[in-house]
Amino acid sequence: MKRVAILISGSGSNMVSLAQSMTGDHPARPVLVLSNVPEAGGLARAQALGIDTTVVDHRPYKGDRAAFEAALIQRLDAAQPDILCLAGFMRILTPGFINHYAGRMLNIHPSLLPKYKGLDTHARALAAGDGEAGCSVHEVTAELDGGPILGQARVPALPDDTAETLAARVLPFEHRLYPAVLDRFARGDRTPVTLP
Ligand code: GRF
Repeated sequence: MKRVAILISGSGSNMVSLAQSMTGDHPARPVLVLSNVPEAGGLARAQALGIDTTVVDHRPYKGDRAAFEAALIQRLDAAQPDILCLAGFMRILTPGFINHYAGRMLNIHPSLLPKYKGLDTHARALAAGDGEAGCSVHEVTAELDGGPILGQARVPALPDDTAETLAARVLPFEHRLYPAVLDRFARGDRTPVTLP
């Protein structure tokens, strides 16, 4: 059984969908939810699901990324994770951290990568007049939002969309895509998932 740690910074809706997918004959189980934000709503949701939670607040480290990441690694490795899932985790990770979990760390990004790496993805897709948008799950490498793509979901972007209405259309697909990718990844299958 693969042990999965999920990293969050906010509401944790992707964490909830991942956690709820890991049942029955699914080859993985959630063992820890870690947040860098003490008041993240996802912490209470994880506790309600019976998952251990922990907080490593980045603020006391005042930009000392190496010290913050050393604390992350110490806390994470205490749970002995086989796989890390970043799910709305909003901190940039250095190559040192990424190398420590090389080949076993996933992230979900709200765009059709390689388009729109970074922030404000939906607003940028709309500003470009794209007719479609979506989300991607990728393996995390040192290049921000740049690792091998393990799954994508496409949704229409409509002329009267705002970033908020488009985000609301994409989010349910995130909640289906990430669990589908994790299930394959935990079985050692890197065949990309395409939705719908
Ligand atoms: C989602 O849009 C996800 O794509 C991005 O963070 C947002 C919030 O996710 N990574 P969650 O509700 O905290 O899972």
